[in-house]
Amino acid sequence: MTVTRAIAHTNIALIKYWGKRPAAGNLPAVGSLSLTLDRFFTTTEIEPAEQDSFHLEGQSDNARVLQHIDYFRNLTGRDLHFKITSHNHVPTAAGLASSASGFAALTLGLAKAFGLDVSLQDLSRIARMGSGSAARSIFGGFAVMHALEDDAYAEAVSSPLTSQVAMLVVECGEGLKAISSRDAMNKVAKTSVFYQTFLDNHPRLLCEAMSAIQSSNLRSLGACMEQSTLQMHATMLGCDEPFWYFNRTTISVMSEVRKLREQGMDCFFTMDAGPHVKVLCPAQDAETLSQSLSSLDGVSRATICLAGPPATVS
Ligand code: PMV
Repeated sequence: MTVTRAIAHTNIALIKYWGKRPAAGNLPAVGSLSLTLDRFFTTTEIEPAEQDSFHLEGQSDNARVLQHIDYFRNLTGRDLHFKITSHNHVPTAAGLASSASGFAALTLGLAKAFGLDVSLQDLSRIARMGSGSAARSIFGGFAVMHALEDDAYAEAVSSPLTSQVAMLVVECGEGLKAISSRDAMNKVAKTSVFYQTFLDNHPRLLCEAMSAIQSSNLRSLGACMEQSTLQMHATMLGCDEPFWYFNRTTISVMSEVRKLREQGMDCFFTMDAGPHVKVLCPAQDAETLSQSLSSLDGVSRATICLAGPPATVS
């Protein structure tokens, strides 16, 4: 029996996607820019079966995964069914982008299992249907997501910075996220007084961050990255019923990053839909930084990541 194996690495958005267009197809309201990480990934095995099933660390038959298989059946007109088994080498649903690597691996694996030969851009479009950030995990290194009126896909961005930077993933306590990013985006779009400001300011940040990557300017990239994450989190504070993903360790790690920066270290924070902090820095400073941040109260682990590879299938 043919077993298809796919692997995709997580990515962390430097410039955040936050919010969706009202049309179908899980279209993001804004573009985004990310770095794929080498240390966190999802492996997915796909084998022919009588009926569809999905298994991931004790969880089974996730509705979004089953819909994704349906999408391939409709696209190819082939009535195939599969048993799918995934392993996350990344904490699940904790704002560490497990859905990005998960849906990227699933997309690549299903494309092979259905015999669908499409471009990387099209794979990225299909991965997006499952999770917006998954479109970027098809690629290694930096990736930019283009959000057009009725289309969105990612592509790789090459830069000398790719081999010069590290991202330190600082885990600030355990536990699943309180509210999924999908629900959070809905609440924000419906009630946040800051959402429109976030949308209006976003193109400038994305454009400046792209120029910073192209000119290998880590400080400018880091400044845009911090603005993007804080503006995204501000949208949640601006809701009718405000909510947030920070905990006290998150705040203490971000404050320490600022303090170290004032002392001359190039380090910049970002965070997603969970309490953990990711710190962008020159690769040669990652070990020192990891030691400083790991010693803070409440930090459960700090993992040094370098730029990761594109998703692959065999
Ligand atoms: O991929 P989704 O739909 O779970 O949304 C991800 C949203 C953020 O991680 C917060 C930002 C991003 O661009 O990845």
